[in-house]
Amino acid sequence: MTVLPDGKLHFNIAIDGPSGAGKSTLAKMIAASLGIPYVDTGAIYRTVGYAVRERGIDPDDGEAVASMLPSVRIEADFTGGAQQMILDGRPLGELIRNHEISSYASKVSAHPAVRGFLLEMQRDIARRNSVVMDGRDIGTVILPGAEVKIFLSAGDECRARRRFDELRASGSDITFDKVLSDIRERDRRDSSRDTAPLRPADDAVLLDNTLLDADATLRAALGIIRQKVPGAAVKS
Ligand code: DC
Repeated sequence: MTVLPDGKLHFNIAIDGPSGAGKSTLAKMIAASLGIPYVDTGAIYRTVGYAVRERGIDPDDGEAVASMLPSVRIEADFTGGAQQMILDGRPLGELIRNHEISSYASKVSAHPAVRGFLLEMQRDIARRNSVVMDGRDIGTVILPGAEVKIFLSAGDECRARRRFDELRASGSDITFDKVLSDIRERDRRDSSRDTAPLRPADDAVLLDNTLLDADATLRAALGIIRQKVPGAAVKS
C-alpha cells in the first residue's frame, strides 16, 4: 500500500470468481462504499469478443483473433462515473451485454495473445487509481500485489438462477436449462484453459455467497477489506 502525494491511500481490491457469482454487483457496492472506481475486466474481454464477431472471425481460431488485435483500438472511459467501453472510437454501451457476446468473450479470452494484449491496459488503470477490479485472473495474474483479494463463488444452480432472472428481466425468452448449461460450459472453459485459468490466488479470501443476499455479501467483503486495509474509508 502506498500513500499518494495528496495523502490518500493507494490500494487495489481484486475480486475473482465464476460467472454469475455476483462479482460485479459486489464490486460496484464496494466501489460506492469506498468512493473508488469499479473496473469491469469482463467488459474489456467482451469488447474483444464484439470486435471479433463484427469482423466475422471465428472466436476459437486463436491465430485469426491474434492477427486482428493490432488493428483494433480498445479504451475504457471512466469519466461519466461508470465504465464505458470504446471500440475504435465508438462507445459500445449495452451492445456487449447479450448472451451471444458472453460466449464470444469466453472463447476469445482463452487465447494467450488476447490476455497478453489486455494485461498492461488493466495494470495501468490500477496503477493510476485505487480500484475494485473484478474478473477471473485479477488476483493471480493482473494484480498479484493487490492488497485485498476476494474469490467470490456460489453453487452453479444459484448462479444460473440469478443470470436467468437478469436475462428475463431484460426481455430475453431464454430457458433456465439453457442458462444453466451455458454457465457450466463457461465454468469448464474458464477453469480448464491453459492460460490464466480461473482459480483463487493463494492469498485470496474465499467467500461463498450461495446463502447470502447482496447486502450480506457486501458486509462480509467490507469486513475482509477493513482487516487488510485498515485505512480504507467507508462512506456512510
Ligand atoms: O464477467 P463476464 O461474464 O463479463 O466475462 C466475460 C468473459 O470474459 C468470461 O467468460 C471470462 C472472460 N474473462 C476472463 O477470462 N478474464 C477476466 N479477467 C474477465 C473476464
